[in-house]
Amino acid sequence: MPDFPIPQTDPRASYLEQREAIDAAIARVLAGGQYILGREVEEFENQFAAWLGTAHAVGTGSGTDALELALRACGIGEGTRASDLVFTVSHTAVATVAAIERAGAVPVLVDIEPGGFTMDPSALAAALRDPPPGRPAAIIPVHLYGEPADLAPILELARRHGLRVIEDCAQSHGAVYRGEPTGNFGDIACFSFYPTKNLGALGDAGMTATNDGELAVALREIREYGWRERYVSARIGINTRLDPLQAAILGARLPHLDADNARRQAIAARYDEGLAGLPLDAPHRRADASHVFHQYVIRSRQRDLLREHLRAAQIGTGIHYPAPVHLQPAYRDRLGEFPAGLHATTQAAGEILSLPIYPQLAGAAADRVIGEIRRYFEWPGRADSAA
Ligand SMILES: Cc1ncc(COP(=O)(O)O)c(C=O)c1O
Repeated sequence: MPDFPIPQTDPRASYLEQREAIDAAIARVLAGGQYILGREVEEFENQFAAWLGTAHAVGTGSGTDALELALRACGIGEGTRASDLVFTVSHTAVATVAAIERAGAVPVLVDIEPGGFTMDPSALAAALRDPPPGRPAAIIPVHLYGEPADLAPILELARRHGLRVIEDCAQSHGAVYRGEPTGNFGDIACFSFYPTKNLGALGDAGMTATNDGELAVALREIREYGWRERYVSARIGINTRLDPLQAAILGARLPHLDADNARRQAIAARYDEGLAGLPLDAPHRRADASHVFHQYVIRSRQRDLLREHLRAAQIGTGIHYPAPVHLQPAYRDRLGEFPAGLHATTQAAGEILSLPIYPQLAGAAADRVIGEIRRYFEWPGRADSAA
């Protein structure tokens, strides 16, 4: 159940809205008797590829698995060379970096754009000019919060250095960069269907997508023990199959995704208008892209006080993420700030605040959030010290 009357996110609300179709999809799978891969998974893979505009889609057990599988399909990581370097950001879900290490490659963390939330192409260029020991192999830009990364210069750097590009689209289903949906730019795109995502399952699920037929074959084989045919492992594989129950649920939901994204964008526009003039930063937006607002993230130097004020008003907020990956206990002694520091990343972590956003959030609830934030800054001295 949601923790507050106005929660930060509410996957149950979208289940209830689509309950009939989802319950029917689940009943169909249970009665059908095929509980691993099979027709439901194939149909959803085809449906998703058609929606995205790629030639192939290969379902996985989670978004983290999708990233690991993508790296392995590109021949990056364990069993290939001693240290394949994969360039990504520290301002992301830890999953992005965990997947790189699970594939047996070495993450190189570069900074995000100052004032923004995605990979800074100039920081990437600097890291590529002077990389740590190893073989630069791939770049994983993350389209965080639903905003596309600045792909054009990143793709150009990849081309110049002969690197693979794997897009982390876990938060960007439907976001568009220069006229094309994210997921259409790199060698492989990876999606998460974690329940709160713009397209969410009712459990763990993920997807890889590509236009490259050979990569698609590799993805299919590696996701299931390296099998080319049943019981014949043509290469080293893992087990990360998309669950047919989740595939059926996702198939019922996909037709609503574009409308749900439009509802998120309408809430974002309402917040923009209602919060205008306050001493806080509205979410970063790229002029040549459309944002699908997986999160609506404001920035304030008074983030913690503002969050406490909203909590007291029974309004849920989030911090995505409280500590960047390079400062997490499992990583901080191993992954340095290479090569020029991660200043924008560290600064963002102290200022970001994710407001309530999900398709079913009522306009009146968004207005309450706006009203409480305005009330916070009406207290004497707060607006001045925030500016
Ligand atoms: C940016 C990003 N990458 C990767 C993942 C991993 O996805 P999953 O939770 O499905 O493994 C997530 C979601 O948690 C994410 O937000």
